[in-house]
Amino acid sequence: MMKIIVVVGDQFIGRGEKITVGEAVNGGGKSGRVDVLDFAKTDIAGKVNPCCYFPCQHWGVCVRYGEDRYECDCTRTGYYGKNCTIPKFWTRVHDFLKPRPDVVHYILTHFHWIWDVINHTFLRDVLMRLVLTVRSNLIPSPPTFNSKYGYLSWESYYNLSYYTRILPPVPEDCPTPIGVKGKDGLPDPELLVESLLKRRTFRPDPQGSNLMFAFFAQHFTHQFFKTYNRMGLGFTKALAHGVDAGHVYGDNLQRQLKLRLLHDGKLKYQVIDGEMYPPTVAEAPVRMSYPPGVAPEDQIAIGQEVFGLLPGLGLYATLWLREHNRVCDVLKVEHPTWDDEQLFQTARLIIIGETIRIVIEEYVQHLSGYLLQLKFDPNLLFNTDFQYGNRIALEFSQLYHWHPLMPDSFFINGDELNYPQFLFNTSVLTRYGVEKLVDAFSRQVAGQIGGGYNIHSVVTPVAVGAIKESRQLRMQPFNEYRKRFNLKPYTSFREFTDNEEVALTLEEFYGDIDALEFYPGMLLEKTRSGSIFGESMVEMGAPFSLKGLLGNPICSPGYWKPSTFGGQVGFDIVNSATLQKLVCLNSRTCPYVAFRVPQSEKGDIRTDEL
Ligand code: HEM
Ligand SMILES: *[C@@H]1O[C@H](CO)[C@@H](O)[C@H](O)[C@H]1NC(C)=O
Ligand SMILES: *[C@@H]1O[C@H](CO)[C@@H](O)[C@H](O)[C@H]1NC(C)=O
Ligand SMILES: *[C@@H]1O[C@H](CO)[C@@H](O)[C@H](O)[C@H]1NC(C)=O
Ligand SMILES: *[C@@H]1O[C@H](CO)[C@@H](O)[C@H](O)[C@H]1NC(C)=O
Repeated sequence: MMKIIVVVGDQFIGRGEKITVGEAVNGGGKSGRVDVLDFAKTDIAGKVNPCCYFPCQHWGVCVRYGEDRYECDCTRTGYYGKNCTIPKFWTRVHDFLKPRPDVVHYILTHFHWIWDVINHTFLRDVLMRLVLTVRSNLIPSPPTFNSKYGYLSWESYYNLSYYTRILPPVPEDCPTPIGVKGKDGLPDPELLVESLLKRRTFRPDPQGSNLMFAFFAQHFTHQFFKTYNRMGLGFTKALAHGVDAGHVYGDNLQRQLKLRLLHDGKLKYQVIDGEMYPPTVAEAPVRMSYPPGVAPEDQIAIGQEVFGLLPGLGLYATLWLREHNRVCDVLKVEHPTWDDEQLFQTARLIIIGETIRIVIEEYVQHLSGYLLQLKFDPNLLFNTDFQYGNRIALEFSQLYHWHPLMPDSFFINGDELNYPQFLFNTSVLTRYGVEKLVDAFSRQVAGQIGGGYNIHSVVTPVAVGAIKESRQLRMQPFNEYRKRFNLKPYTSFREFTDNEEVALTLEEFYGDIDALEFYPGMLLEKTRSGSIFGESMVEMGAPFSLKGLLGNPICSPGYWKPSTFGGQVGFDIVNSATLQKLVCLNSRTCPYVAFRVPQSEKGDIRTDEL
């Protein structure tokens, strides 16, 4: 039977609706593009496309000749042979000396005394440079494939509306949706999410990440993950492909101009109880995604159109708005002759720099659990062959669906808010104010991302959407991604997870570990001990992340100097930015602020904050 998937509309909520042939969807009156994809081509007569077997190892490129012949292009892979499996001499030496990722991780997270020494010597720089180069070397730059082009093409390079792809899509004519392995069909996405990903009881993150961390993750990443549903899956609205602070300033010039005060470089704002907040949509007429019926006076205007969704996002929008306007005041004192435009543009570069510093030195530091003290210092890369520039990958967007972070309810100043009270409720932000929200979010523990069974039912539809998206865009199986990132493919579900129930259920759903899909693989892999997620999330996520952060133009030799940031004063702001300063330079009192919950005397996580 033929199944047709139809995707309609540009709404943030509710994409990926699945309907059967014959049903029509009119996109709620919007001129949404309709995508029709057909999964029934898999049984066409004739030979199986040999590239469906993913024969080429070690980054070799599979090229089909005739009907059933293929060649692997092993150029510069360090391997040769039909399938690029035979290592050249130096590859053999290199592979022999290279420590396994779990060994490196173990060293980086143990032996306090070594790190206490290293943190204070030149070795910190040496190791940080190594982390940056080893990780970024896994990301092709310039970018390669996208969801339409599984081979190199000018269109794929040039058309920024596509997310790039690290691995090309599974060819359309393969016997199974995922190549040749596994069952004829894939498990029903709803059933998959219901039986393995949906939360049973809340499981706190053993690393102690809090909601301040969770909302930072969501806020930060939604400047570059902006799937453009109107154009179809695999497209993005965020054409800068990186850290451009488009979530503060809007992703296009028209929107930016509506958000700007056009005076002294500042952004528009409103004052409530003597404190600065983003303006209302009545004051800054930009489109925001709110449920129908919310008056413009009750909507807040933010660069990112979906940030009215959660008070946690409104909180960060407020902090960055205040910081931008504060930086403008500082710059104005330094440069009384500068016009609005120059003040604005320079402040924006400072905001981008502050963001990158906070992300590397606090956010990634926390997430990694490394005892090596991470350092944001673009100088480290100036004598390497690091390539500036970045393109956001579909795989990065998929793996960043960290919805298990979300708790069962939100505790603020003695009140408990459930989801219906929390979502789209602008009054939460202004009623409690920045200090109380920061304090509350910093004290409430977030959920563990890996290990399964931890997505709150409010957001399980998002996980279902991610799985449907990956199928429509024909993402390669989890194990192919393991190999692409130099990890050993798993040989069984029991090796993949130590949870008997997960292993059995996956076995039944997929039949073959090589058929396991990317996103379920990411979320269900056994977690590292005491960690928020498993090996694959770190080994695949970190390269995308670090390449994106250091590939930013401000990190390049031509930009990374005081004059770019309005002189030494501005450069100092970038070089000393912290999460705490972001909050405390922009609020009356300084609350508890961190990416992890406070530690008890014993040093373990205080789950009594719940
Ligand atoms: C209660 C909190 C949250 C709600 C209600 C929510 C809801 C949603 C919705 C409705 C989508 C769009 C799904 C689709 O179009 O199919 C989405 C996408 C996404 N969410 Fe969340 N989310 C929440 C928290 C988070 C958090 C904490 C993160 C952490 C990083 C996150 C990461 C993402 C990512 C990466 C996407 C894909 C964005 C894109 O491709 O445009 N979300 N979320
Ligand atoms: C190359 O890979 C194909 C498909 O996996 C396999 O059938 C074949 O035996 C391999 N050939 C060599 C020489 O390794
Ligand atoms: C080294 O850095 C790590 C990470 O910031 C930190 O946990 C550790 O305490 C540091 N050691 C010293 C002596 O600074
Ligand atoms: C990018 O590709 C899409 C799909 O083919 C097309 O609609 C769009 O116009 C292209 N964008 C540019 C700038 O050419
Ligand atoms: C919105 O949040 C306030 C707290 O600021 C709460 O009292 C109210 O019930 C919420 N509104 C809705 C519609 O849930």
